Amino acid sequence: MAFNVDLYKNFKVEEKYKIFLEELENYLSKEKDSLANLANSSAFIYAFFENINWSGFYLLKENELVLGPFCGMPATTRIKIGEGVCGYTAEKREVVVVDNVCEFPGHIACDVRSKSEIVLPIIQNDILYGVLDIDSGVVARFTSLEKETLEAALKIMLKYIDFKELI
Ligand code: SME
Repeated sequence: MAFNVDLYKNFKVEEKYKIFLEELENYLSKEKDSLANLANSSAFIYAFFENINWSGFYLLKENELVLGPFCGMPATTRIKIGEGVCGYTAEKREVVVVDNVCEFPGHIACDVRSKSEIVLPIIQNDILYGVLDIDSGVVARFTSLEKETLEAALKIMLKYIDFKELI
């Protein structure tokens, strides 16, 4: 079945995010290949969230974050733990929301249009596998609704993606 996100363009954002989570689970549950599911997860976020310019993954390999599947402009390939918003998130192991990236010391700019950012750590059984990073060209784009929706999306991903296979 072909994907048509325009079907939901006039929906209330809460309703759109509900469909996003249902569709994400629907797609991921049908595929066993973790890389394919990771790639589709970044595309799902990119398709359903308005005003974002980058969505993707950095995977923790030999104690460094290495670029994984993403949608958006070409990005920096390696980030050290503690560096940038992604490295900070990996160090803290908690969701980091940056309303204005210009005010975040050490922010790594990949796309000059990025103004705000949310990064979620990917943790399973206490092991950190990487981060999910989303950027927006709008200041303070990520509210508690986006945070909760992305946390729910990450739970779905962890059900159907074996991150051990990817690092
Ligand atoms: N801004 C991130 C780097 C990754 S790009 O946004 C895709 C950071 O500061 O870690």
